[in-house]
Amino acid sequence: MLSPFKPELCRNESEVESKLIVQYLLPQLGYTPDTWHQEVAVGSIRLDFLAFAAQVVPFVLDANSPLSIVMEAKHPKQNLNNHVSRLRHYLISLNLRYGLLTNGKEVRIYEKFQYDIKLAFQCSGNDVETKLEEIKGLIGRESLNHRQSINNLHPQISEENQPNNSETKRQNSMKIVAIYHNKGGVGKTTTVVNLAAALRKKGKRVLVIDLDSQANTTFATGLIKFDDEEFDDIKDSNIYHVLNSEDFYPISEVARKSNFSNPEIYVVPGHINLIKNEKELNELDYSRLILIQKLEAVKDQYDIVLIDTPPSLNLYAKIALITTDYLIIPSDLKPFANQGLTNVKEFIKSINGFRKQIRKPPIEIIGILASKISTNARFVQSTLKNRIEKISSRYGINVMDAVIYEREDLAKCAEKVQIIGDIEIADPISVLDFKPSSTSAQEFELLAIEVLQKIGLN
Ligand SMILES: Nc1ncnc2c1ncn2[C@@H]1O[C@H](COP(=O)(O)OP(=O)(O)OP(=O)(O)O)[C@@H](O)[C@H]1O
Ligand SMILES: [Mg+2]
Repeated sequence: MLSPFKPELCRNESEVESKLIVQYLLPQLGYTPDTWHQEVAVGSIRLDFLAFAAQVVPFVLDANSPLSIVMEAKHPKQNLNNHVSRLRHYLISLNLRYGLLTNGKEVRIYEKFQYDIKLAFQCSGNDVETKLEEIKGLIGRESLNHRQSINNLHPQISEENQPNNSETKRQNSMKIVAIYHNKGGVGKTTTVVNLAAALRKKGKRVLVIDLDSQANTTFATGLIKFDDEEFDDIKDSNIYHVLNSEDFYPISEVARKSNFSNPEIYVVPGHINLIKNEKELNELDYSRLILIQKLEAVKDQYDIVLIDTPPSLNLYAKIALITTDYLIIPSDLKPFANQGLTNVKEFIKSINGFRKQIRKPPIEIIGILASKISTNARFVQSTLKNRIEKISSRYGINVMDAVIYEREDLAKCAEKVQIIGDIEIADPISVLDFKPSSTSAQEFELLAIEVLQKIGLN
């Protein structure tokens, strides 16, 4: 018989680990020493404890692992509220169903539901004893195994049986999202590439299209591996070729695999030649519509297509807005960006007129995304709130809940380089791969959750 648990015995984090988790909870919940691991590192994530209800050797966490539980111990003086978002990041990134969070004085159990977590149980350290049956019912080894075997018998009732659901949903459900503002430097490209990585990490198959002649997205996703134009391997196969040919250059041939995010995404590169080719493309009858047709051909290969656009009202911006289903308008919310919203609205109106002629429904505006926002506390508390309210009432466009703040990590991950011999080659990675637990990575994760909800793909 195990001795009862007394919260006052835990005076620091390591006593919470040893006295509450190792000596009490794990054995009470039926986890023998061979079924749990302490200090588990998965990529850049470090878990205090990982316990398996079903023994999996070797354990694979990026696959569906609903029978694993993570337990995080904190110092008794720590407020658990401050650790929920980290736990959420762990459960979602590693696809774990349950997470226990405790500082000895309080015990909480969170359950993952698709892209968010919910509090499933909470009690004080003193009550752990009396609530043990309830805790066992949720995360006890036997109970989890039992639920899993029922799910195997009746797969249709399984919560975690997502692959089948999403397989059926996947048919014809590829969604196209353009990221556009006619004002330059507001964070469009930064949004496209990091949102792409965040969506990919949620299991979505992502294609990015760079419709900007600056080719910043192409660069940011690590496709520009040459440091001399003589070795430019993009000039002969990029978005221009897709738009210029009715019968050749399908997306499947032009899209390149990018490892700037893990898992990988695919990118149709842009190129500086788009500038000189704009006039020629403008004269082609089909150049405005060909992208719709070519994307239709890959609708089963991707879940989401993100289109990066130039800060302009040019042909490429038009093609992006004609092709897309949804629109996100990143904005630093400063006066010029705000005034530019009038142009954006007029542009959308004229594009919607064109869409009507081709029997395409109007663009669905997901909203303005506050981006590159100063983290200055006073600004965030007063000015930011004020600006957001004013913008939605003045321009009649909804402002999204997610906010992308100005963060050094974002610039750093984009500037990463690789040294090969004496050559320096750009080796950018997404902020989610650069620093998965950074605030910036979490902001993009929240953005991805909001986008998935708004486009009905969650
Ligand atoms: N949230 C952020 N925090 C820090 N730096 C940022 C942030 N967003 C963007 N930047 C930086 O600001 C610059 C402009 O950003 P970005 O290229 O994403 O804007 P853009 O709207 O795509 O510009 P353009 O209109 O020229 O295509 C880049 O150097 C980028 O690294
Ligand atoms: Mg850009």
